[in-house]
Amino acid sequence: MSGFSSIRFGADYNPEQWPKAVWDEDVRLMRGAHMTSATVGVFSWAKLEPRPGEYNFEWLDEVLDKLHEGGIRVILATATASPPAWLARLHPESLPVKEDGTRLNFGSRQHFSPSSSAYRTYAMRLVHQIAARYHSHPALEAWHINNEYGCHVSHSYDDESAAAFRAWLTERYGTIEALNEAWGTAFWSQAYSEFAEVGVPAQAPAHRNPAQLLDFNRFSSDALLALHREEAGIVREYSQGVPITTNFMGFFPRVDYWRWAEHVDVVSDDAYPDPADPDSYVLLSAERDLMRSLGGGKPWLLMEQAPSAVNWRDRNMPKAPGMNRLHSLNAVARGADAVCYFQWRQSVAGAEKFHSAMLPHFGTESRIHREVQDLGRELAGLDAVVGTEVKAQVAIVLDWDSWWAIEQEAVPASRDYLETVLAWYAGFLRRGVEVDFTRAGASTAGYQLVVVPVLHVASTAALDELASVATRGNTLVVSYQSGVLDPQLHAYTGGYLGGVGSALQQALGVAVEEVAPLASAETVTLLDGSIQGAATDWQERVEVRDAEVLASFDDGFAAGQPAITRREHGANSGIAPGAAWYVGTQPTAPLMDALVERWLADAGISAAFAAPEPGVETIVRGGFRFTGNHTAEPRTVTIAGKTWELEPYGAHYEPIAT
Ligand code: GLA
Repeated sequence: MSGFSSIRFGADYNPEQWPKAVWDEDVRLMRGAHMTSATVGVFSWAKLEPRPGEYNFEWLDEVLDKLHEGGIRVILATATASPPAWLARLHPESLPVKEDGTRLNFGSRQHFSPSSSAYRTYAMRLVHQIAARYHSHPALEAWHINNEYGCHVSHSYDDESAAAFRAWLTERYGTIEALNEAWGTAFWSQAYSEFAEVGVPAQAPAHRNPAQLLDFNRFSSDALLALHREEAGIVREYSQGVPITTNFMGFFPRVDYWRWAEHVDVVSDDAYPDPADPDSYVLLSAERDLMRSLGGGKPWLLMEQAPSAVNWRDRNMPKAPGMNRLHSLNAVARGADAVCYFQWRQSVAGAEKFHSAMLPHFGTESRIHREVQDLGRELAGLDAVVGTEVKAQVAIVLDWDSWWAIEQEAVPASRDYLETVLAWYAGFLRRGVEVDFTRAGASTAGYQLVVVPVLHVASTAALDELASVATRGNTLVVSYQSGVLDPQLHAYTGGYLGGVGSALQQALGVAVEEVAPLASAETVTLLDGSIQGAATDWQERVEVRDAEVLASFDDGFAAGQPAITRREHGANSGIAPGAAWYVGTQPTAPLMDALVERWLADAGISAAFAAPEPGVETIVRGGFRFTGNHTAEPRTVTIAGKTWELEPYGAHYEPIAT
């Protein structure tokens, strides 16, 4: 499990922003807020190494000792997230370069190219120093590698990145002929005669090579991961048995967290839902479920959230009273063993002075601080859930390759992949059904219902695994735009869904002849079947080979064509019957709700809520049922004959009857 014995409650602590006199008060007030953990040193490089090779650790020694004396454990950062000014001056080539060739300057943070050898050399040298000095500090409870890798700079188009990309491609393809084949360079005279000719996909006159773009995304994620792995490797040389993490950013589009999750001991996440967006609870809940899923179901750490407003949106709304508690319990209910903030004491200078903190500018007698204190007290009583897991019977496939490819230029319709996936997820959330996310190609054996929204890119092996869901007696739901391209972005011909005669085409009993995006605000009606409602975004001409048509398009380009099909499997074969659904359009929320009802029935899963409850969630973890109201109105919910009254932004939990 996460290895913690109680729910960790804490924050980023940036003592270098404050005179020493404040540190004692900090520890005293942290105790008063029931804080158990402080993440220290995230942005301390310039203070720790003011000049190259000249180290200044005494202040950090003092801070860690004070925290230890105060009973606060430390999540120690490796301090490599924001290189000092001297590094930019000594090695201007370490600064990242944008797609248009502009080099970014020193003066904010994360100003390093992921492939810079100078950055790497100096960063690793610092990590050696920190790990050697603090590996046995009694306050140490976890290592925090770097910070939010890729948040500001994930792709750099500098010369070192180009060289590293070529090395990555050489490793992947072996020969230039293999690269030419994979990238389809026969098109537009793009063939290369040697790797030395291959560059990063910087700005170009027209549409760039799609496979080159996708490989550059994969490479960029791997380049950052290599930095993480190198730091983690150094830390492990000195420090065994102390968990290592790096803070993820939820559904972050630019790095593939499935590939990263194997390289942390515990997953951690930073989450900043917009308090002004009434639907942000969908993204928030899904993000928690993703973090749990990345760790294979194990507990994870909420490393950062804001107690109230952030400072980086156009208009930064505070969290309404109760919302901070609600979001924190939402994390715990969905598998978190830590609830931490950015940051402890609100800065008075710098770009984040208007970002909320546990200890606001106003001081301790503030709404925010009181809410934080109350929450700390409450979480200290929730030890029973620590280390426990959440059991989900539904899995939704999430895939970064598909995300990158479907959002490329030169596709049938521009799409927000995450928004699309969340529309499918939300149908289950509204019914209080636990959902995991799963990686394309991973075993789906533990799930009764597997949902595959817009899995645009997939290997044959991954599609075969999905097809097996229905043939082994479970329920499979596949949406439009799935199995369209192979991992090198070559189209599967002969009806998509993995191409002519694929296992998935057979499992679904359909093939896709032609696609037809709808205008962005257009809706179409589905009629002529047992399922009726409105759909958006997409239509298709689908050839039905062996499936029941449950709804057809009533209007639009595809009027009269099948929209939703279902093929039953094994009904008379002695194995439990499975079902394979194909949905050739994007259901509106009411239609999604109706479909979720049918899919749950097929899969034999009972929902907590008898009818959809938008804005309300429920989930079971560690023997407790958590219920939360993400709306500004009081809500009454009934689960299995029992009724709860929830205040606006109220959350409730109690042991489930056994
Ligand atoms: C991220 C960073 C923090 C801070 C917050 C502000 O999570 O990791 O250092 O900048 O954003 O929301």
